[in-house]
Amino acid sequence: MRTRKLGKTDIEIGVIGYGAMSLSLQAMPEETAFQLLHAVWSQGASLVDTADCYCIDENDQHHNERLIVRALAAYSGDRSRICIATKGGAVKIDGRWKLAGTPEALYRTICESCETLGGPIPLWQHHWPSTEYSVAESMRPVRRAVDEKMILHVGVSNYSIAQIREAQELVEIVSVQNEYNLWRRDPETNGVLEYCEQQDLVFLPWRPMGGKGLAQRLGEIKPLENLVRERGVSPHRLLLAWLMAKSKCVVPIPGSSRLENALDALAAADLRLTAQEMQAIDGIRVDELPGSERARSGNTFQRSQLR
Ligand SMILES: NC(=O)c1ccc[n+]([C@@H]2O[C@H](COP(=O)([O-])OP(=O)(O)OC[C@H]3O[C@@H](n4cnc5c(N)ncnc54)[C@H](OP(=O)(O)O)[C@@H]3O)[C@@H](O)[C@H]2O)c1
Repeated sequence: MRTRKLGKTDIEIGVIGYGAMSLSLQAMPEETAFQLLHAVWSQGASLVDTADCYCIDENDQHHNERLIVRALAAYSGDRSRICIATKGGAVKIDGRWKLAGTPEALYRTICESCETLGGPIPLWQHHWPSTEYSVAESMRPVRRAVDEKMILHVGVSNYSIAQIREAQELVEIVSVQNEYNLWRRDPETNGVLEYCEQQDLVFLPWRPMGGKGLAQRLGEIKPLENLVRERGVSPHRLLLAWLMAKSKCVVPIPGSSRLENALDALAAADLRLTAQEMQAIDGIRVDELPGSERARSGNTFQRSQLR
């Protein structure tokens, strides 16, 4: 798979990563999850995105990290290429995600992730900016964890340009993970994508195919039908190729709980779209898409943030 740099570091990551969230939101035989992770790593999707809060409930916080660590231990390929990108600052209580963003809680979850991963965290990302603490206050425990060698590289998620800049004053940032897909194109207009390019930050679009509900209905997008027919590929692959072509700093992190879907998505790494194809996808009217109402209304995590 083609690679891109993890920010200004020398670390090469596959041009598509893998979002492991769904492997911990449902009961799944561990063997099935291992097979999927081993297959995506073998295909070159070396960045695997996880978080402290990807779990069923508060009793198994860090579940997804533990699963990845066990899968990695059982992986016969080159383990040194795999970059575990975790996030911290949220918990799952009664099935709902909530921010847990006090500086003390951030430091604690970093320590826990470090212990779970059995060594320094390759990439630690602050999951959401706090509504209660400034970026500087949130970054202080992160700075401390970097100095204590618990974190190798730092990223931020769901941050605006102003917040990224504020974070950069305290710690070197290598990645930004914000929502970006056909329905949510804010990074194109709010300047974050351009800022990442200028600063050599890698941009990791989350929910790159619109998330579970929308990804199942891509076949209903009429303007995509012609392209799907002409290219003989899935609409999912087309949308991922479209995202990657948007900027040299983009590394999408598609999620999938099925091996065949995960491999289909990763094949987008080899799909280069023509200027006309890019234009055709760009021209798709968002308000005509299935589920646009839901997409426009924001995501549930944002609305359920603890203050
Ligand atoms: N930073 C944040 O705040 C944040 C928030 C949400 C998510 N994330 C990250 O982003 C990652 C991806 O987000 P997501 O999983 O919500 O959304 P997504 O990647 O846009 O979509 C996932 C859905 O697409 C389906 N799918 C994937 N490839 C497919 C294919 N080739 N053909 C048909 N269906 C396909 C999957 O189905 P199956 O499961 O049936 O295969 C799943 O339902 C997460 O895993 C997580 O790491 C970050």
